Amino acid sequence: MASFITPVLVGRSAELQQLEEALVAVQAEGGRCIRVSGEAGIGKSRLLAELRDRAVARNFAILVGRCFE
Ligand SMILES: Nc1ncnc2c1ncn2[C@@H]1O[C@H](COP(=O)(O)OP(=O)(O)OP(=O)(O)O)[C@@H](O)[C@H]1O
Ligand SMILES: [Mg+2]
Repeated sequence: MASFITPVLVGRSAELQQLEEALVAVQAEGGRCIRVSGEAGIGKSRLLAELRDRAVARNFAILVGRCFE
């Protein structure tokens, strides 16, 4: 089923700050592995969509994988 991604991100400033710091650290030092976990519908995909946009702005190449139940 297609999901609707809301254009405006509400809150999540603390999480985004952590993720942006990780992007900076990756560019300076190399790879990181970050797990984003939470209940269904809590906003994991929306948060990662924001991170993707910020990573693109920093010239990262984006690779996406999916798995289904
Ligand atoms: N911080 C937020 N601001 C605005 N909308 C949000 C926010 N977080 C989530 N949403 C919206 O809530 C809905 C559910 O969020 P999302 O799909 O990101 O959840 P999820 O944790 O990835 O769910 P699932 O576990 O089912 O994959 C979406 O429409 C999304 O755009
Ligand atoms: Mg999701």
